[in-house]
This record gives sequence, structure tokens and C-alpha cells, in this order.
Amino acid sequence: MDIAADEDDPFEEQREKADNPMKRLFVEYGARNKTALTVGILSSIVARVLDLLPPLLLALAVDAIFLDSRAFDLWLVPEALEPTTRAGQLRLSAGLIAVAFLGGAAFHWTRNWGWNAFAQHIQHAIRTDTYDKMQRLNMDFFADKQTGEMMSVLSNDVNRLERFLNDGMNSAFRLGVMVVGISVVLFVTNWQLALIALVPVPLIALFTYKFVQVIQPKYADVRSSVGRVNSRLENNLGGIQVIKAANTESYESDRVEDVSGDYFDANWDAIGTRIKFFPGLRVLAGVGFVITFIVGGLWVITPGGIGPLSGDLSPGNFVLFILYTQRFIWPMAQFGQIINMYQRARASAARLFGLMDEPSRIAEDPDADDLVVTDGRVEYEDVSFGYDQEETIVEDVSFTVEGGETLALVGPTGAGKSTVLKLLLRMYDVGEGRIAIDGQDLRNVTIPSLRRQVGYVSQDTFLFYGTVAENIRYGTFDAGREAVIEAAKAAEAHEFITNLPEGYDTEVGERGVKLSGGQRQRISIARAVLKDPEILVLDEATSDVDTETEMLIQRSLDRLTEDRTTFAIAHRLSTIKDADRIVVLEDGRVVERGTHGDLLAEDGLYAHLWGVQAGEIDELPEEFVERAARRQARTGGDD
Ligand SMILES: Nc1ncnc2c1ncn2[C@@H]1O[C@H](COP(=O)(O)OP(=O)(O)OP(=O)(O)O)[C@@H](O)[C@H]1O
Ligand SMILES: [Mg+2]
Repeated sequence: MDIAADEDDPFEEQREKADNPMKRLFVEYGARNKTALTVGILSSIVARVLDLLPPLLLALAVDAIFLDSRAFDLWLVPEALEPTTRAGQLRLSAGLIAVAFLGGAAFHWTRNWGWNAFAQHIQHAIRTDTYDKMQRLNMDFFADKQTGEMMSVLSNDVNRLERFLNDGMNSAFRLGVMVVGISVVLFVTNWQLALIALVPVPLIALFTYKFVQVIQPKYADVRSSVGRVNSRLENNLGGIQVIKAANTESYESDRVEDVSGDYFDANWDAIGTRIKFFPGLRVLAGVGFVITFIVGGLWVITPGGIGPLSGDLSPGNFVLFILYTQRFIWPMAQFGQIINMYQRARASAARLFGLMDEPSRIAEDPDADDLVVTDGRVEYEDVSFGYDQEETIVEDVSFTVEGGETLALVGPTGAGKSTVLKLLLRMYDVGEGRIAIDGQDLRNVTIPSLRRQVGYVSQDTFLFYGTVAENIRYGTFDAGREAVIEAAKAAEAHEFITNLPEGYDTEVGERGVKLSGGQRQRISIARAVLKDPEILVLDEATSDVDTETEMLIQRSLDRLTEDRTTFAIAHRLSTIKDADRIVVLEDGRVVERGTHGDLLAEDGLYAHLWGVQAGEIDELPEEFVERAARRQARTGGDD
């Protein structure tokens, strides 16, 4: 996906908040790379001047050699060295032209070094800074954005800045020096003819600017349609198994044909405009050239000129005018491009700086102390929370877990169990009430110290691309091989890992696709075991494994949870029946609490769920089914 300033921009808010982004770019980042910038600017100027010298020397040489006007008299060469013969003049001009070429080559090199170094350092710094800032933003920021959109900022926007800082700045300086340099020389040589010869310049500038204005939206269409083609293909190839099973190949072929057709149309539209550009430019340039050629030529042939246009021109200067005006055309064609690159770079810089300035709602208290876990007692006091203002997801939840105890959270899907425990990790801050560990309010402790001491096995296991061992060691990077194996054993993962082709060094694939769901879960349990946290949170940690493995994991988890505070969420009630406390959540509220025995005696939701799962009763009483149906209707169900 490619996001330009003129398209639907998910980062519009950030973009609009950043003021003066280009100035900031140069002040904050440019200043760190002054050497490269200086080399770039100076070399651009010198290289361009040297570029412009050969035609000038050639013009002088024409007069000096063919008319013997001793043009070199005037400047450049000290009198003593001045050649006196035409052959001498020829040698001198050839020598000077050679010097200009060689010097030009050297400065082209330093110029490209300067601008590239400048652009590369800045793109590196700004990408890493933005990423660094982005990963510290709150979870709700990530919930609102698509991964592709954030990737687009970190890749496309940064690349666009890079291109501007390199090509754009480079071209702008070259163009500027050229326009000024050529104008000065032409005006000094013959201002009347210069006026005529330079007429096409503003016209060409205007023409290319207009062209870019017209083609830009067309290119935007091309980019978004190519984006749609790519996501369609990506989706289809990723879901190929579903397509085959559903027998929808021809339906999908049609859909691909549709998006590809849109791309064709958008591209054809842009091509239609684009192929008129260079011919148009040629017409403008050609007309300018012919006029300069005729007027200049007549002034050479008839000194004094004819009619109202009077002038006087040497053949050498005539050559100079012809060569210089020719030099103008193609660089001028870049003018519109440079303006456009600047505008796009500005939008990109605004998005990047806007992101960097994005405030973190979960801000750390400046006086926060590190969390010190002594007993591991956790208290939830009247905790309420909603992901957004409109809806409260968790309401008035209170419970206390003594150090070393296990508390189980059970309840229907969507009841808010995972949410309650995410609050313990401060993925989000409580709306009302408070959560405290050993009497310390979570909002008053440093976030790293909290997350270091709370181990979390999340409901959706995510593995990073890399080996099994790397994934277990993730976050506990200094752990040795022995410790990794011990942790894997505790998570009942050792056996299957040793059966993998390369054991602990087997690559797990992207997101761990090469492993089964249950295997992934056991690796993330091993990760938590290795971390050896004071407080352990297990969110459906064993939901993807078979009953047998679950019992094995349960046995080692029992050892693991023996004397540390543990929170466990489970739908399979057999895994939590021995918990010290069980809290039943429904609709974000605590509806029942107690031990397994207490809850059975209470004969409420828990007792009935237990009955169904244990096979003691066949189905839930109507009352509970009714409640579930009402709940599904309210939350929109699963679809
Ligand atoms: N990031 C989020 N943004 C907005 N709403 C969310 C977000 N995550 C969850 N919710 C909503 O909060 C409610 C509680 O979700 P939660 O994940 O806590 O349920 P749960 O009890 O863990 O369910 P399950 O047993 O299916 O895992 C749901 O209605 C869900 O739609
Ligand atoms: Mg959950």
C-alpha cells in the first residue's frame, strides 16, 4: 500500500499536528549530518559550474581559433602563457576543456557521495526513531491501525524522504545552479538574445508543473489499484486451501480479473497522459530553439541586425547560445518532479513526526519506583474499564489473591477475562478503581519492572521467525542452553522439540507456522517458565493441546505455580478445579466466586457448566441458554 498526501490517510490526524516538518527534518536530523550536507551542496555547485564550462570554452575556442580573435586574451589565462598561434589556442582550449571534464567527474563523485550519505543517514535515523516510538505507543493505537498502514509509514514514507533528500535535493541544486549560471553567462554575452532565448524556460517550468499536477492523481490511482491487486493475490494465495475446499476457483479468478482490470484501466489512463509529455516539451523547446537560431544566426550574418531586432553576435557566441539553450530543456523537465517530490516528502515527514509526537496514554509516573514483589499479593479494587468511552467491558471487579495462590477466571466467551488480566500487565490502564501488587498501585510503579516480574502466556500464541530455542529464550536472552531445555521440559515440550528435524535449532517459520497450535502453546509456556516470574498469567495456556498433554502440562504447571501467584483462564474447567479461588465473570461483572466446592454447592452458572463438561448433565438449563442467547444478541454474536 502506498499512502500519499492526497489519498485516504489513516495518519491524517498525526500529519496535521506536525508543523513545519521539513524544517524539523533539517534542524533535527540534517544538523547531525552537516558534513555530508555541505559536501553535497558545494559539490553540486562546483560540478554544475564545471559542467557548464565546456560549451563556454568551445564558444571561445571557435572565435579564437577560426577567427583568430584571441579570445583568451580577456580572461582565464595569464598573459605570459597566452598562446600566440591558432594551433596554440586550440591546444589551450582542449587542455581547459579536459580539465573541466576531469574536475566535473571528480565533483560528480563527491556530489553523489554527499547527497547519498546525507539521505542514507537520515533515513536510517528516522526509521529507527519512529519504530522505537511506535512500539511504545498504547495498544489502542495498534488496535485502530492496520499493520499494512503502519508498515507503509515505516517503509514508504521513509523511502520517500530518502528519495527527496537524495535525488530531489541533488536535482534542485543542479537545476538552480544551472538556471542562474546559464542566465548570467547568456545575459553577459548578449542580453537581447538572452531575453529571446530564455523565453521557453518559464513556459517549460509551467508546463512540467501542470503535467505533474495532472498525472499525480492518476499515479495515485495506479498505486491504489496495484495495492488492491496485491492484497487480493496475497489473500487468495494465503487462503488457497479454503478456495479449493469451497470450490470457488472460478469465482476467485473473476475477482482477480476485476482488480487486475482496474489496474489496467488506471495505468492506461496514466500512460495516455504521460506519453504526451515529452512530445509537448519538444515542441516548446523546438520553437524556442528555432527562434534563437534564426535571430542569432541573422545577427551573425548581418552585424547590426535587421528591422526592430538589432544585435551583434560572433559565431562563437552563437554556438554558445545554441549549446546552452539545448542544455536547459531536459533538466527543466525535472522541475515539476522536484516540486512534487518535495510536496510528497513533506507529507511523509509530517506523518513521521506526527507519529513521533503521538502521546502515550499509559505514561509512566515521573516519580515511579520499581515494583518490589514480596509476597505476591494482588488486589483488584472496584476495577472498571472500557476499550473506548462508549462501552464498559469490565465493571466493578474486585478480588484479592494472596501470594502464592492460584486464581482462576472462568466465564463465557467475551465476558472480559482476558481484558481483566491485560490490565494487570498495564497493556491498558484501569478506568476506575485500582490494581495493586503488594500494596503498590500499578500506576505508581515503573512499567519495565512490572512486566519483568509478571509472566504472560497469552491466548493467541505468537512465535517470532527464528529457531525454537530463540523463541523460548525471547526476553530472557542471557539464559543458557541448559536452562532453555529445563524450561521446555517443564512445559512438556522437550520431547516434541527433540523430534523436530534440527531439535532446538529448528526454524519455526513465520509466526511459527511450521508447528501445530499445541506445540506453539507449549513453546510459549516454556518461555514463561524460563522467565521465572513472580506472578504468572496463563490465558487459555493449554486450550490447543489434547487432554493427555494437558494433564502432563498441568502436572508441571502445578510445580511451577506452587509458590507463585498465578492467574489462570480456562474454558475447560477440569484444569482449574484445584485453584485456590475461582471467579466467575459474566458480562464483565463477577457473578460467582469461591472454591470449586463452594461453587458446586451454589448451583449457579459454574455448577451447571461443570455438570455439562463432566458429563453429569446433558445440557445447560434453559435459563442459562436464554442468558447466553441474549448476550450474543447484544454483542452481535460471533459473526
Ligand atoms: N482491543 C479491543 N478493542 C475493543 N474491544 C475489545 C478489544 N479486545 C476485546 N474487546 C472486547 O471486549 C470484550 C471482552 O473481551 P475479552 O477478550 O476480555 O473476552 P474473554 O472473556 O477473554 O473471551 P474469550 O473466552 O473468548 O477469550 C469483548 O466483547 C471484545 O469484543
Ligand atoms: Mg480471552
